[in-house]
Amino acid sequence: SLMVPCVQELAKQPITKVPPQYLRPNLDTSTDTTSLSKVPIIDLSKLVSGDGDELEKLDHACKEWGFFQLINHGVNPSLVENLKTGVQEFLNLPMEEKKNFWLTLEDFEGFGHSVFDEKKLDWIDPFFINTLPLFIRNPRFFNNFPDPLRISLENYSLEMEKLCITIIEYMTIALKIKRNEVLEFFENLFQAMRWNYYPPCPQPKNVIGLDPHSDAGGLSILLQANEIEGLQVKKDGKWIPIKPISNAFAIIVGDTLEIITNGIYRSVEHRATVNSEKERISIVTFHGPLQNQVIHPTQSLVTTERPALFKQIVAGDYYKIYFSSKPQGKKCLDVMR
Ligand code: SIN
Ligand code: FE2
Repeated sequence: SLMVPCVQELAKQPITKVPPQYLRPNLDTSTDTTSLSKVPIIDLSKLVSGDGDELEKLDHACKEWGFFQLINHGVNPSLVENLKTGVQEFLNLPMEEKKNFWLTLEDFEGFGHSVFDEKKLDWIDPFFINTLPLFIRNPRFFNNFPDPLRISLENYSLEMEKLCITIIEYMTIALKIKRNEVLEFFENLFQAMRWNYYPPCPQPKNVIGLDPHSDAGGLSILLQANEIEGLQVKKDGKWIPIKPISNAFAIIVGDTLEIITNGIYRSVEHRATVNSEKERISIVTFHGPLQNQVIHPTQSLVTTERPALFKQIVAGDYYKIYFSSKPQGKKCLDVMR
């Protein structure tokens, strides 16, 4: 069934051991901290002022990591604070009220998550919601959220859309291709959001918050809302922990952008770990081509030396394949080769 236990409720009890379905005996939580200092940090204000070195850094980050932290992004801090408060207020609602927002099989939106293997549950309470285009918004949520949450979601959603377009514009400059060559796929943009709640976990070495996966869309903008560590990205086969930076966003390149750039920019495999002491909250905004958009490697990045690495597909079909298979690294994208 889709009704998985709410880990927030579970963790309220004085437990020293998690229920067996959360245990991953073979989990390898070892990380590579030598690469820590190399995790790319991109300064958007430098890109805006035409700094060529920063553009090089962006290019390198997208090619080698598929990930970077973005500072000086210009997003109004009060907008971010209001969203954090709204999400926190939602999490504080009694379970009875939260149940009104429970995930359904029809739309895969709401509170809770889908289960592919009942013996392997994740230590997470996510809330997934479609936010753009406007007609996609589900009145089940938007008519029933507390006002402060709804209003901050609406404002934040538009601001993230703008930021996403800006980042993609600098990517196309870095790729030395025409502005519209990537943006045409995002002209009708699909945006969804997910906030994730990870309570403290008594057995963090054998429990995972989110299994390794790449994101299906093009660009994810992640806010490490309460600045607790947990996100890890894979680089050269090793897991690198990401240290939250105040007022920064973590930017995650997703599968459709890898397809469109013909594999030049790479989607990044990432996971979320948990810890025994502190709860962790992250808020992700996904952006990708709208469901009916056909995606394929853009023409000028396909050459005789570099033939098309991916087949063409309708974006919505890709999302369907992605959401109906359990997360397994970048396996879903490999099917497109
Ligand atoms: C995600 O992959 O969607 C979330 C990762 C995180 O919680 O940092
Ligand atoms: Fe993700």
